[in-house]
Amino acid sequence: MHSSENNSKPKRFAGILLHLHPAFIKEEALAFNRTFGLGGMAALLIVIQFITGIMLRFYYEPFPQKAYDSILLLQNNVLFGQLIRNIHHWCGVFLVVITFLHLLRVFFTGGFQSSRKINWLIGLLLFVLIIFSNFTGYLLPWDQLAYWAVTVGTSLLEYIPLIGNSIREFILGGDEVNANTLLIFYNFHTAVLPILILLLMVYHFWRVRKAGGVILPKSNSANSIVPTYPNLVYREFIVALALIAVVLVFAVFLNAPLLSKANPDFSLNPTKAPWYFAGIQELLMHFHPFVAAFLIPFAIIFCLTALPFVNLKEEPSGIWFHSDKAKRAAKFTAITSSVLTFILILINEYLPDFETLLPWLNSFISNGIIPLVIVLCIVWFYYKFILKKFSLSYLELVQTMFVFVTSAFIILTIVGVFFRGIDMELNFPWNL
Ligand code: HEM
Ligand code: HEM
Repeated sequence: MHSSENNSKPKRFAGILLHLHPAFIKEEALAFNRTFGLGGMAALLIVIQFITGIMLRFYYEPFPQKAYDSILLLQNNVLFGQLIRNIHHWCGVFLVVITFLHLLRVFFTGGFQSSRKINWLIGLLLFVLIIFSNFTGYLLPWDQLAYWAVTVGTSLLEYIPLIGNSIREFILGGDEVNANTLLIFYNFHTAVLPILILLLMVYHFWRVRKAGGVILPKSNSANSIVPTYPNLVYREFIVALALIAVVLVFAVFLNAPLLSKANPDFSLNPTKAPWYFAGIQELLMHFHPFVAAFLIPFAIIFCLTALPFVNLKEEPSGIWFHSDKAKRAAKFTAITSSVLTFILILINEYLPDFETLLPWLNSFISNGIIPLVIVLCIVWFYYKFILKKFSLSYLELVQTMFVFVTSAFIILTIVGVFFRGIDMELNFPWNL
């Protein structure tokens, strides 16, 4: 493929897109369900964020006395001000969802092994930077929602042993959200993070090319090679237009939230962390903070980082879910894990917990260790059960357990965002 790239030239040029791609690609790589265009969508959303972000900067003022009023001015007195803000808001949300789906796509097609190891790590870093971008942006409107969500979000750091408090104070520029925090977040949001994202993104793209494009199943038939333009470029164009249309529909009909101006003396009830941290906040309702906000999140981050270096005893296949039986196991696991998580949340909410039942025990043990051991036992039994039921290979088992954890986390996030009302009590979304 690379030799054809060097020897031949595309018949026509389609602008910058062609510099990102080789001139010719394998026909197989064109199938939409190979990648669902998710990486490209993430890139487009970032470009939109950069453009709308720079526009917002013309009016936004990062000082507590002025920030909120500058957003009001932007919304009410600037032509298309509200629309630009809405686009920036919704693209921020979509970016988290789309990059997460892209991560799942890469995982389930086995695109994280051999020559793609480093790109998996770069991708993880990009994901973290996107969460940080969203989080730092969240504070900027300086309304009640922003102030209290960032207060709760940063308080999660306190549970990191030894250094948690220092990190929190460093990030906040004080011991609570204040004028320094706003300026620090603003500088990170509009300078440090965009530069890092841009650099890593370029490197990420380069590594995709270096690995010879996206992972494809090994096929015995001769691969036919087609010119990138128009075959791939036209497809990308259609996906881009569809995505822009969806963003515009959201931005026209649903305004970015703006409550009253931030008031440090009057907290919101419920005080919720931003939605992408809602899963962790939900865990806090069920486990000791050390387990919920430190042990579990860091274990997940560790596993994701270590993943490309684990010997899975098989070559990456490039086929979604590797095999049909693994696909069935994944579906079964997604449903089981979701239902199980929901049931456990209900049990913990409505039946007395171990802290109440065993008041003489240290809460770290009754509310931390005991529920954690119970959950680990459930995971272990499920591991044994699924192995027997579907007789999976090691790679397929890892994949299935990943589905188990991911589904649980998605349910925790949904419950945290939509089902927690006043005093964080469980309720139906329409009663909140
Ligand atoms: C990955 C890229 C980015 C993401 C995910 C992101 C996300 C966000 C979010 C979630 C908000 C809060 C919006 C709201 O709901 O009120 C925000 C606000 C803001 N962002 Fe960004 N942003 C990104 C890049 C940028 C860039 C590159 C700039 C400028 C150079 C920028 C400038 C701003 C400004 C000035 C605000 C405050 C205005 C407002 O809140 O409406 N952003 N951003
Ligand atoms: C800003 C966020 C990101 C952007 C713009 C981006 C962009 C892309 C693009 C355009 C591709 C080529 C094929 C495709 O569309 O799937 C790709 C491939 C890849 N991405 Fe990302 N990505 C991002 C985040 C991530 C994340 C979070 C991960 C995983 C942790 C990741 C890991 C990979 C890997 C390993 C490949 C190669 C996969 C293969 O060859 O099949 N990326 N990325």
